[in-house]
Amino acid sequence: MKAVLFDTFGGPEVLQVRDIPEPVPAEGEVLVEIHSSSINPADCHVRRGARQNIVETKFPIRLGRDISGIVKKVGAGVTDLKVGDAVFAVTEQGKDGANAEAITIKASICAKKPDFLSHNEAAALALIGLTALVSIEDTIKLKKGESILIQGGAGGVGGYAVPLCKHIGAKVYATASANNHDYLKSLGADVVIDYNKDDFTKIATNMDAVFDTVGGKVQSRSFDSLKVGGRLAWVAAGEADFKVPEGKIIVRPNVARDRPHLERIAELAKSGAIKAPPMQVLKLEDIRKAHELSESRHVRGKLVIQVR
Ligand SMILES: NC(=O)c1ccc[n+]([C@@H]2O[C@H](COP(=O)([O-])OP(=O)(O)OC[C@H]3O[C@@H](n4cnc5c(N)ncnc54)[C@H](OP(=O)(O)O)[C@@H]3O)[C@@H](O)[C@H]2O)c1
Repeated sequence: MKAVLFDTFGGPEVLQVRDIPEPVPAEGEVLVEIHSSSINPADCHVRRGARQNIVETKFPIRLGRDISGIVKKVGAGVTDLKVGDAVFAVTEQGKDGANAEAITIKASICAKKPDFLSHNEAAALALIGLTALVSIEDTIKLKKGESILIQGGAGGVGGYAVPLCKHIGAKVYATASANNHDYLKSLGADVVIDYNKDDFTKIATNMDAVFDTVGGKVQSRSFDSLKVGGRLAWVAAGEADFKVPEGKIIVRPNVARDRPHLERIAELAKSGAIKAPPMQVLKLEDIRKAHELSESRHVRGKLVIQVR
């Protein structure tokens, strides 16, 4: 089977598509024939060697986290999935490898893919949906009538968060470049801020909550938009290199992989509350180009890798 892997840390040029043996599912695992996968910014961090404490560093290293495909084999003890089931999932933390024709994965962290979502859509929604749901529903616990500032509203995670917060009944402020403002309005954002031109701390003031997907100075400056007692969840890569301001709650959610959150993604998609993001669809062989696009930090929606 074909898989994306690399033998040394570096730029997109280190990425290769090579033939490797198809894995055999262990107890509790399934072998999934992957139809679609995606690119996440974390893939580029892993490729550059910035995640050596999290991801296994034994070369060759495999990449990719979102999968949607068909169960091809089941390991011992798996009773809730069978050969032929369409499933979608996010790989376990530290066990990347979704940019490939197949993968073994714990059955307990896969969910049945609903028919109304294509494999591309399911792969696009999985990790961004998990991240936004864990951050906004579980961590911030956003309530109807509250206000929230979403940093990076046009990205994968931010573009899921905007309609999620509208569905909850919040007033949504979101930042993006001017060319993404119509897109953010189409997602339901109430106030769209051009971060290149305007100071978001002057427009989004006294917020009940902030969801930061950008990081760095954007994140620490976002503390100024929070009211006293407000909550901020941040998910961008990097360490917590800041002092928590008095009276404000700053949390980094742990985006665990599990079936209930994937089922919640499917439920929200079925109800129409959240649609699949705009997708730029590439092939496994386009992996270097996909990483270059992701590193531009201006992708709208998701980069999807259609494997079959
Ligand atoms: N902790 C976790 O488990 C987890 C899971 C998933 C993602 N993440 C992290 O979350 C972050 C976002 O992921 P993603 O997939 O959403 O990234 P993404 O899709 O690559 O984000 C790209 C978007 O960022 C926007 N952007 C860039 N700079 C900005 C700024 N200064 N202010 C506002 N928007 C800005 C761009 O909008 P414009 O083109 O309009 O500028 C673009 O649409 C990444 O750091 C990722 O590693 C963490």
